[in-house]
Amino acid sequence: MSTLTRRHGELFMEETPLSKIAATFGTPCFAYSRKTITDNYLAYANALGDWPGMICYSVKANSNLGVLSILAQLGSGFDIVSSGELERVLKAGGDPARVVFSGIGKSPSEMARALEVGVHCFNVESDSELEALSQVASAQDKVASVSLRVNPDVDAKTHPYISTGLKENKFGVDINRAEEIYDKATTLPGIRVVGVDCHIGSQLTEVEPFLDALDRTLALVETLEKKGIAIHHLDLGGGLGVTYQDETPPPIDTYISAVKERLGDRQLELIFEPGRSIVADSGILLTRIEYLKPTDKKNFAIVDAAMNDLIRPSLYQAWQEILPVSDHNEAETLLWDVVGPICESADFLGKDRLLKIDAGGLLAIKSSGAYGFVMSSNYNTRPRAAEIVVDGDTLHQVRRRESVEELFEHESCLPK
Ligand code: LLP
Repeated sequence: MSTLTRRHGELFMEETPLSKIAATFGTPCFAYSRKTITDNYLAYANALGDWPGMICYSVKANSNLGVLSILAQLGSGFDIVSSGELERVLKAGGDPARVVFSGIGKSPSEMARALEVGVHCFNVESDSELEALSQVASAQDKVASVSLRVNPDVDAKTHPYISTGLKENKFGVDINRAEEIYDKATTLPGIRVVGVDCHIGSQLTEVEPFLDALDRTLALVETLEKKGIAIHHLDLGGGLGVTYQDETPPPIDTYISAVKERLGDRQLELIFEPGRSIVADSGILLTRIEYLKPTDKKNFAIVDAAMNDLIRPSLYQAWQEILPVSDHNEAETLLWDVVGPICESADFLGKDRLLKIDAGGLLAIKSSGAYGFVMSSNYNTRPRAAEIVVDGDTLHQVRRRESVEELFEHESCLPK
């Protein structure tokens, strides 16, 4: 399904021309389609059907309150990795009892807050974290529900920076040590074992690595149950990858159905933590071409968005499609590098793109709804972009553009 349509030479998101978004809120700005977020979430929820479990949207992919509130209204659970993300979920109306707390470095104060609001489960990643959680929970006279994140040593076949399930990665505990840590967990005060968790990486475009990880974790579940440690749920981590260029991830239903089939008649609840596949294709980064700079070697289109707004191309050599917002029929079709104003050669949004463009025109960088704004920075003292949710022909500004003054609000000059 496409979030964008071209009508009479103009790109639309839902019923809204992108040029109207730029005219109203300026550029650069992110725009997200409420309908696409809803459809993507429902694809997971409907695939899970009446199988007990939860779809816990991974907040790190896009943590804007407007986006979170769309998902909270749909009844989504949430996967968080910090108390900052927890506060966002609460503010957006999310139910803490449907929150799983992931991450390798939860601090005692973050644990305390999560216990106070009553999160569903802590995904614990080391012996020392388990001990710390036991102490924090006991001090509050509370019991923390715990899954151990196991590292099943499966190759997710994705970019090395976002692959997490191999022995050399910092995440989880070696699945061969899991039994020993579960034994320990059953003896610690303030800890209740409820599940097993694994997450092998992001932007997976095949089901096989997920199923390999599932088989290995199911073997662990059996071992634990044999020794009387009951496991109520299995958390399979992040969701499927998306199509940025020519990737062909399977439909969400194919993945979830395959998992359900593998489980057969086991009474295990399922938790999924999809981020990218819920929000990536809902969003675009809208930017205006400031200058065209053809040179002997390359043609550069210098735009008003930069690597501080969207770092994926620079950081992961990620390819995201770039489309002119309006047809420029008079322009010549040429190969362009679309670059930002930042003083680094790494500041590009796309290289060698065949485009018909003019200075002053608008470009839409597709699939920017996930790991876009959340990874943005103020590098070069650039205020961060506005964020807009499009709902049919209605526009909601869910984050206003920062001002330069706000950027140094927390700083001070030294006295003379
Ligand atoms: N659960 C855990 C424990 C995770 O670490 C992640 C992503 C997810 C769930 C969500 O995975 P997803 O459904 O989005 O694949 N910045 C990178 C992606 C980093 C992913 C980190 N963890 C990018 O722009 O490609």
